[in-house]
Amino acid sequence: MASFRDRSIVSIRDMSLDDLKKIVQTTEKVKKGELEGFLKGRTVATLFFEPSTRTRLSFESAVFKSGGSVFGIANPSASSQSKGESFADSIRTVSGYCDVMVIRHPVEGAARMASELIDIPVINAGDGANQHPTQTFLDLFTINEQFGRMNDLRIGMMGDLKYGRTVHSLTHALAMFGNELTFISPPTLRMPGQILQELDGLHIPYTTMENLEDARNSALDILYVTRIQKERFGDPQEYEKVAGTYRLTRETIGLLGEELRIMHPLPRVDEIAEEVDTTSNAIYFIQAHNGIPTRQALLGLVTGGLE
Ligand code: NCD
Repeated sequence: MASFRDRSIVSIRDMSLDDLKKIVQTTEKVKKGELEGFLKGRTVATLFFEPSTRTRLSFESAVFKSGGSVFGIANPSASSQSKGESFADSIRTVSGYCDVMVIRHPVEGAARMASELIDIPVINAGDGANQHPTQTFLDLFTINEQFGRMNDLRIGMMGDLKYGRTVHSLTHALAMFGNELTFISPPTLRMPGQILQELDGLHIPYTTMENLEDARNSALDILYVTRIQKERFGDPQEYEKVAGTYRLTRETIGLLGEELRIMHPLPRVDEIAEEVDTTSNAIYFIQAHNGIPTRQALLGLVTGGLE
């Protein structure tokens, strides 16, 4: 396994199975309180050029909890890019102020570009519709916490599989571990062909369908629900055609089985009814809270504060 020290975390495609296991194992130790204070003397910058609640705030909380310092921008209009400064100039400048940079940007490839421009590690907190690797780490940790394993599960993903970066990263990771996948989406929001080809190459069994009811006989262990990514539609009318396509209720869960666990990267719009929140199936708030130990562990590993 390659060391994490000084490594940028841009895409799940750059990672080995051992890397993913290492992050999950380290997160377990952090969550149990076995590792503390490992970011002391380290400074993290969070540069968010797109809206965020969980990702940015859990990164920032993770830094404080592990004894480090954090600063950043939460709103691009508050940075000099609004004066016409290039992304590259901003990144080069801020790299002199911190030890790790966490970046979210609407352009696919932005985090990769940043990682090639500067010498400190860059963590991709979401680049357009492409990748969201740290969400995948916390998703994997949550799956392992719930099932005691990350392989040999039947996992459905429902919603916007075209523009949803969380499901792109997660699909790749679940394929590496060996799981059976079911993709539920409107025809216009299917999982990109390139990702399906990767699954074929890895001999991962998958099924695609349009209606959640068709998954009745799939014996799903997990249903991972996603929001339709309104901001990524070029044409608002195209969004209106698919908005509100899916809505998970207590009744639909009944169809899919009592043991089903429901995950969601959040934010939710209307794809899960609030009545679902109080069922034992709903684990999305546990999942969101696992963002803290996961991001603590990751920052510890890339700064060398943890081995
Ligand atoms: C996701 C994202 O930003 O991709 N949110 C998150 O980080 N938890 C999902 C979304 O916005 O729908």
